[in-house]
Amino acid sequence: VQRQRRGGGAYDVRTSGAEPADLSSAGSRPAPEPTAPETLRHSACGRRSLPAPPPQRLIHPRSCSRASGKTSPSGGPLSGPGAGQTVTQEGIKSPDERSEANDLALRLARQYTGHWDVVVLDHAYHGHLSSLIDISPYKFRDLDGQKEWVHVAPLPDTYRGPYREDHPNPAVAYASEVKRVVSSAQEKGRKIAAFFAESLPSVGGQIIPPAGYFPEVAGHIRRAGGVFVADEIQVGFGRVGKHFWAFQLQGEDFVPDIVTMGKSIGNGHPVACVATTQAVARAFEATGVEYFNTFGGSPVSCAVGLAVLDVLEKEQLQAHAACVGSFLMELLGQQKAKHPILGDIRGVGLFIGVDLIKDEATRMPATEEADYVVSRLKENYILLSTDGPGRNVLKFKPPMCFSLDNARHVVAKLDAILTDMEAKVRSCETLRLHS
Ligand SMILES: Cc1ncc(COP(=O)(O)O)c(C=O)c1O
Repeated sequence: VQRQRRGGGAYDVRTSGAEPADLSSAGSRPAPEPTAPETLRHSACGRRSLPAPPPQRLIHPRSCSRASGKTSPSGGPLSGPGAGQTVTQEGIKSPDERSEANDLALRLARQYTGHWDVVVLDHAYHGHLSSLIDISPYKFRDLDGQKEWVHVAPLPDTYRGPYREDHPNPAVAYASEVKRVVSSAQEKGRKIAAFFAESLPSVGGQIIPPAGYFPEVAGHIRRAGGVFVADEIQVGFGRVGKHFWAFQLQGEDFVPDIVTMGKSIGNGHPVACVATTQAVARAFEATGVEYFNTFGGSPVSCAVGLAVLDVLEKEQLQAHAACVGSFLMELLGQQKAKHPILGDIRGVGLFIGVDLIKDEATRMPATEEADYVVSRLKENYILLSTDGPGRNVLKFKPPMCFSLDNARHVVAKLDAILTDMEAKVRSCETLRLHS
């Protein structure tokens, strides 16, 4: 058993006796061609073949090595039509902070398209900078409200949204909502620069968009002259198990125009990254206003990023996430049969949402109950929190080293808390009947 310490808790990296192999189960201007980000894939050998850095900036070799090829141990992030093309430094920028990555993506999109407006998903969160609060309905609804350049499309939520699991093609139906939002903006003379979405909307309630939704949306956005930005800040780096990037769940051929990465890239250390096509990067560079921030591309941060990628690879944490995630889903599924409050259990890899409901007919969010469960779990030294517009979705996004034993432990505690809660509700009802 290898152990790693995270946030004061000890977790098995691998389950005793299980070999790593056992874990692998699993504008007005024409829309740019989806020329695929010049990917990071190229460079298992990229450390050697990286083109010379642009003369105006001194760049530490460690930043180069990371940019050139260490972004995916699986060898194929952002792979698609552009895989295998050379990655240049203009194609990858290294802000030191995740919100900065999204702010830079916004600048890149605007510079490239010559447009200003942004389409976002309802309840989304993309960061704490003013520019990002403006594109985060989760925040701006409680602050200054929606700016005229921001357009909100419905969450592709097949459990509680307008198009549900019984819809013949929810991907196309939800994408048509984006088209409708774009058309209504255009009727007001607005021009779309970008569509921003988390590849799996997490603050929105651990939502798994139906496969095929992003490619459809990208078609609508690109025809309006905009670019598709995938925010992988929470969900990238193998967490979804089956793929290294969560947007790959949308179809192997789907490639966003810009991808932002953070959080897991540094395992707690502040480091972030933006990947894009050379066309977008060159449009940005053409202004002559280079990207600069004091700590951007710091060799220390890049060393941390490289170490994280090495650990992901060496310890096969992507396969581990697939294995432990499907085990956790199975255990939670067994609980669903027992506790009617568990309305929907959805997830991929170590990204799972447990949607608590008042009753199956209305699917009304069980907000207070979710709050109660979270506090009882905390008494048991298990930290979970809630997400979603109704704050009723228990979010499971544990460290990548979360083990099968950890999964058994958390589900056993959840079962005990729900059983106890149900008994308390029954005795209150009995008291009410007799009073
Ligand atoms: C999806 C997403 N994007 C961007 C950010 C911003 O990251 P940071 O707070 O590290 O700047 C967050 C933070 O929670 C996030 O969840």
